[in-house]
Amino acid sequence: MSSNRDGFTSTFGVLVATLGSAVGLGNIWKFPYMTGTNGGASFLIVYILATLLVALPVMITEIMLGRASRANAVTAFEKLAPKSQKFWPVIGYMGLISAVLILAFYTGVAGWIFAYIFKSISGSINNTDPASANAAFGALVSNPLQALFWQWLVLAWAGAIIMLGVAKGIEAATKKLMPILFLLLILLCIRSLTLPGAMEGVKFLFSPDFSKISATVILTAVGLAFFKLSVGMGTMLTYGSYFRNEQNIPLTATRVMLADLSVSLLAGLAIFPAVFSFGFEPAAGPSLVFMTIPAVFASMPFGQFFMALFFVLAAIAATGAILSILEVPVAMLSERFSFSRKQATVISIGVIGLCGIPATLSMSVTADWKLFGLNPFDLFDYISSNILLPLGGILICLFVGWVYGLPQLQKQLSNDGTLNNGWVIKAVFMLVRYITPALILVIMLKGLGLF
Ligand code: PHE
Repeated sequence: MSSNRDGFTSTFGVLVATLGSAVGLGNIWKFPYMTGTNGGASFLIVYILATLLVALPVMITEIMLGRASRANAVTAFEKLAPKSQKFWPVIGYMGLISAVLILAFYTGVAGWIFAYIFKSISGSINNTDPASANAAFGALVSNPLQALFWQWLVLAWAGAIIMLGVAKGIEAATKKLMPILFLLLILLCIRSLTLPGAMEGVKFLFSPDFSKISATVILTAVGLAFFKLSVGMGTMLTYGSYFRNEQNIPLTATRVMLADLSVSLLAGLAIFPAVFSFGFEPAAGPSLVFMTIPAVFASMPFGQFFMALFFVLAAIAATGAILSILEVPVAMLSERFSFSRKQATVISIGVIGLCGIPATLSMSVTADWKLFGLNPFDLFDYISSNILLPLGGILICLFVGWVYGLPQLQKQLSNDGTLNNGWVIKAVFMLVRYITPALILVIMLKGLGLF
């Protein structure tokens, strides 16, 4: 690999960019709606366990593989696996498929967020009534041309940023805005928690009903944990390849995980009290955030201004995640074939734009195109989060636990012996060698109804 390979320019920049990949629509949109449809507090507990025992170890080892190889997700396994084992780059190719599937629906949802910036400015969603919130959301997503317009706008915007390159584009975009999003979420929580009847929402989020846990719910929580920390498909590996040699990988990953979890919890605390106070439906699904957040803002002073600001920041958070997913195909195409970064970006966006059409039209034209009972939007989400990411996670664990081995892991995670990460490394090794892959396997087989 050439020595002028682009990379992150500071330790803080690494943390922010990695956080920029993790924090996104997963926190603001997916986490609340899935917690709502899967039973509240009990789902939250399973989700946190899945994050600690499954997603975090995968995150640490994935970043490590990227930095050790300084390459994209396919080339990394070619470099690190013994010459006789030709199988491992499959992880990278699976990641490529996940990247396309995820972006096909993710950019559609990001498009709704962009549209909501303008709706907040115009004042058309500035009310607390469930029926009109539902109507406003429905009017946007069920109009094929509007929905596609916003999705393509998002794709064009992300493409433009990625063409500026890793350090300049991604770091600059994410560094400044995360703290503001955090503050705004805290403001939302305060308002939401002081609404009449808010305690119902807090109870929903924190007092578990374990009868709501099933194999499907557990698989959903594991899938969300992978999706949240951007692991199992080579995103963190690709970002790891831009990490600096002196970066403490386990510490960075743990910090990102904690910050990410706090954002999700804040989003939950902003949304569920309002859901119960205004009489929304907690199990509304993907529309949940788009109905409740405007209602909370509408019930506070200067609400319209804060609402617009919130959707701007949500759009930026979504952009950070989109850029990190796009980086998977872009790095792969430009490093493995003789495409320039610009060409690689245009090709990736073209393919994603095409696959995005059926996903985005799932609320209108393609609503009845069902496979396994799921429309294209839900299907792409299901295949990526519940099958491909966990499968990628199993393979990454097995690779590190059984092929790459403890001595190499020790060398990498201690930065050649300069860090004192002794017990952490042993714990990570035991997890990825035995516990994590076995857990994922059992959960997948059970959750998919295979035994
Ligand atoms: N973690 C991102 C989010 O929660 C989504 C994502 C998934 C990003 C997979 C990269 C890879 O919004």
